[in-house]
Amino acid sequence: MTPIKACIFDLDGVIVDTAKFHYLAWKRLANELGFDFTEEDNERLKGVSRMDSLNILLEIGGVEVDDKVKDELARKKNEWYVELITHMDEKEILPGTTEFLTLLKENGIKISLGSASKNAKMILEKIGIVHMFDAIIDGTDITKAKPDPEVFLLGAKALNVEPGECIVFEDAVSGVEAAISAGMYVVGIGSKETLYKANDVVKSLADMTLDRLAK
Ligand code: G6P
Ligand code: MG
Repeated sequence: MTPIKACIFDLDGVIVDTAKFHYLAWKRLANELGFDFTEEDNERLKGVSRMDSLNILLEIGGVEVDDKVKDELARKKNEWYVELITHMDEKEILPGTTEFLTLLKENGIKISLGSASKNAKMILEKIGIVHMFDAIIDGTDITKAKPDPEVFLLGAKALNVEPGECIVFEDAVSGVEAAISAGMYVVGIGSKETLYKANDVVKSLADMTLDRLAK
């Protein structure tokens, strides 16, 4: 069995629940454009890049605009999103996260972030755990969005380990697919029904133990 040398974590939905803030900002944009945007619609945006999310939202509303307007709409949404996350602090860290990261550190397992978000570093700083990461790969480093494996392969490279020595933690279907394409073992965070492609699924990082990883 290949020894585990590194763990790569998605951010939104794994370490923090920012989906609610993304949702409020997208909803505000949809409302401004004259249509509604439900929480169910928002599920389709999990793990999806900012521009791809906007395209899905516009498709839901049946709105067609040119690229210049799209840039402006994405900028606006991000401004609102950043406003909403300004007050984030360590209380927003999902249960079990800090304990699990500490356990990994104590056992010499390297840690990387693998997120599509361009706001990832700022969020890690706000919640006070940025120092626990040996590498941070985020939306500013990648050219191809999940399900492309780029984000996770860059993480392995930055940590100087082989993909087969990494375990990925992901809450989005596209992220699970990206990890599988990268040749990594993947633990889904959420429900088995949605994340059935993952090697293992837990409800949250609070359910993770080293024994479970070793298996
Ligand atoms: C994560 C979230 C998505 C979000 C994307 C880009 O993958 O799950 O909902 O759209 O990051 O985030 P950003 O902060 O760059 O707009
Ligand atoms: Mg996620």
